[in-house]
Parts: sequence; structure tokens; C-alpha cells
Amino acid sequence: MWQSFKPFFEWNDKMFIGRAIADTIWAFPVIETIHILALTMMFGAIVIIDLRMMGLGLKKQPVAVLAKNLEPYMTWGMVTMLATGYLLFTSEAMKCFVNDGFKFKMAVLFPAIVFQFTLFRWVTHKDEDKRPLLLGWLVALLSLTLWFGVGIGGRAIGFV
Ligand code: HEM
Repeated sequence: MWQSFKPFFEWNDKMFIGRAIADTIWAFPVIETIHILALTMMFGAIVIIDLRMMGLGLKKQPVAVLAKNLEPYMTWGMVTMLATGYLLFTSEAMKCFVNDGFKFKMAVLFPAIVFQFTLFRWVTHKDEDKRPLLLGWLVALLSLTLWFGVGIGGRAIGFV
């Protein structure tokens, strides 16, 4: 199935914007720095909510209030990651096509995004008395596993 995406990767590899980034010595590191800064904003918000759902810290704050207040940081962090990630990808699309780190990252990224806007949002927006601690723990652990998986895949791209 992965082979059927090859034309898409070849098309991206020839894209003007990707060539411009690849041929400019400072462009990739600058975009990757923004990629990582957005990561800290998105991950920071998600980890704070997950720890709170596990009863670890910020106990005076109801999870639903914390989740609603941190949602813009999660969402804009993710939008920035997707945009900068795509730019990085176009500069080395064919490298990513044969890269197991990239394949693993994309395989985890899509379920992580669906999970983030469905089960995670539904459970974190529940009132305290309507969310059993075990459910909070399970959702928090799944959230941490998925997003650390994406991060590890992203880091691995430069090494595998
Ligand atoms: C929103 C979720 C995302 C997360 C959490 C994430 C995480 C990461 C991390 C941790 C790195 C490593 C940075 C480093 O080496 O210092 C990275 C690099 C990278 N990411 Fe992402 N990323 C995300 C989305 C994307 C998307 C959507 C794409 C492409 C479509 C992408 C493509 C890349 C590429 C090409 C690199 C550079 C790899 C290299 O060093 O050559 N990322 N990402």
C-alpha cells in the first residue's frame, strides 16, 4: 500500500517550495526550529491535561476548565506543526518515502489527531463527577503514548 503513495512523494519532491527550502542553507533549520517550538506548545498543553487527569498536579483546577483554557494552545500548536512539517517534508519527500521513522510517524499521527478531537476532547470536557478516575487514566496514558510515538518517529527520521 505504501508504494501507491509514491507518485505523491515524487510530485512533492519536485515542488518549487521544497526545492527552494532544500537549496537554501538556513531554511530547513529555521522551519524545523518553528516545528519544535510548536511541538513544545502543543505537547506542553497535552501533557499538563494528561497529568491533571491522572490526579498529578493542578488539583484545584477542574480538568474541563483546564482543557478548555489550553485548547487554543493545543490546536494552534498542531496547525503550526502540520504546516511546518509539510514544508520540511517537501524539501526531502523521497528521503521520507524510504524512511521507516517517517512511515511510523505518519502511521501514529493520523490516529493521534482523530483521538485528540474525539475521545480525548469528549472525556476532558466531562464534569469531574461524570469522569471515573480510571477512564481519566486510560485516556491520559493513550494520549501520552500516541503523541510520544509521533515525536519519536519525527526524531527518528534524521537517524534511520
Ligand atoms: C503534529 C504532529 C507532529 C509532531 C509531534 C512532530 C514531531 C517532530 C519531531 C519531534 C521532529 C524531530 C525534530 C528534530 O530532529 O530535532 C520532527 C521532524 C520532522 N517532522 Fe514532524 N511532527 C509532526 C507533524 C509532522 C508532519 C505532519 C510532517 C509531514 C507531513 C512532519 C515532517 C517532519 C520532517 C520531514 C522532520 C525532519 C526530519 C529530519 O530531521 O530530516 N512532521 N517532527
